[in-house]
Amino acid sequence: MNDQNSMPPPCAGLRIGDIAPDFEARSTIGPVRLSAFRKRWLVLFSHPADFTPVCTTEFVALAREAAAFEARDCALMALSVDSLFSHFAWLRMIRDRFGVEVRFPILEDPTLVIGRAFGMVSAQDSDSATVRTTFFIDPEGVIRAMTCYPANLGRSVPEMLRILDGLQAIDAKGALAPANWQPGEPMLRPPSHDLDEVYGAGDMTSWFLREDGGGVRA
Ligand code: BEZ
Repeated sequence: MNDQNSMPPPCAGLRIGDIAPDFEARSTIGPVRLSAFRKRWLVLFSHPADFTPVCTTEFVALAREAAAFEARDCALMALSVDSLFSHFAWLRMIRDRFGVEVRFPILEDPTLVIGRAFGMVSAQDSDSATVRTTFFIDPEGVIRAMTCYPANLGRSVPEMLRILDGLQAIDAKGALAPANWQPGEPMLRPPSHDLDEVYGAGDMTSWFLREDGGGVRA
């Protein structure tokens, strides 16, 4: 049964542009405070449970790409309702079975106080696990993007990196990232807000749909 009066559905607790609420928690690398991660990008993500199939593939994939996040000056921080000792045992199993060490912090959130504050908790009353929410937090602590996947669909690490690349390029260039944008591809100019420019444009679209370098996108 849904208990939508007392708990927002996943991803609905916070909005893009909000400052990520600060918290302190125990983690696999010791106590962590969210605000201590300011000045760098941060991907904060929740998973439903340790020792589950999809989550295991996500952690293996993320640990294998840890250097790619570092190269983007981005820290990773994971969270679930499981205990610290469950996290330790799971990481040990991942290391022994898959040959990769997860070195980014995994937080324990046994009371779901963080999960609830971030809208990471399933709206299903019967399920107190966090779903697969991901928050992309910029160096000022602002939530810039978020995704929400169900428990039975694993996240795409290339897409997580593309989101980071897109947000960083948007900030660096003051431009817009079009559909399917990849690093190195042209970006778009923000559309004109000037009616004279609209009427003066040489064609129907160039006042609002134009590559940052000047060309018109097909
Ligand atoms: C999984 O990670 O495989 C999983 C976790 C919770 C529910 C269903 C699947």
